[in-house]
Amino acid sequence: MTLDLFEHLPTPHEPELLEPGAVVLRGFALAQAAELLQAVEVTAASAPFRHLITPGGKRMSVAMTNCGPLGWISDRSGYRYGPVDPDTCKRWPPMPAAFRQLALNAADAAGYPGFTPDACLINRYEPGTRLSLHQDRDEGNYDHPIVSVSLGIAAVFLWGGAARADKARRVGLRHGDVVVCGGPARLRFHGVLPLALGEHAMTGAVRINLTFRKAG
Ligand code: SIN
Ligand code: FE2
Repeated sequence: MTLDLFEHLPTPHEPELLEPGAVVLRGFALAQAAELLQAVEVTAASAPFRHLITPGGKRMSVAMTNCGPLGWISDRSGYRYGPVDPDTCKRWPPMPAAFRQLALNAADAAGYPGFTPDACLINRYEPGTRLSLHQDRDEGNYDHPIVSVSLGIAAVFLWGGAARADKARRVGLRHGDVVVCGGPARLRFHGVLPLALGEHAMTGAVRINLTFRKAG
């Protein structure tokens, strides 16, 4: 028996094109996963995960926190970025050097050199939680890409089009995968299907997603 079985698997880190401007870098964050998850715990110890309220008054099922100079928040008055955590009234915890470096390297590998994020939104998904189709459009401008890192149990990412009603592709995202989305794909609708039950050695029954943005 030969290893032909594996021939169809992409080479690790070879960008998998979603469409021009957007790629999946399979396993790009694998080597740093333990360090990243440790830093998530440190961040959450001073800026705890919380379920934000949408402007329409709904409680988001995904729990969120932030690190870096700016953090993404949502409440009755809208979506925005701000330097202060409204729950603690303190600045968001600093963005760890390992986060910055990973975001820079992933953006570079996707063809966006010199990415210097000032915000990292940390999403925590438990089985059953989802993120409905949306665009990331609260940042100051759309010249910079978004870098999104998946850790823990796998999820089905929805990759939509320029309009909410456009058909969305389903893309499996596993522990260590990184999506980079910029240029002509920067404002694509995207989301995450309800997380299936699962168990991961490093996170338990949880998926953690880090999204790096240049918001200011
Ligand atoms: C997001 O769109 O902010 C998160 C996407 C993900 O969890 O993969
Ligand atoms: Fe998003």
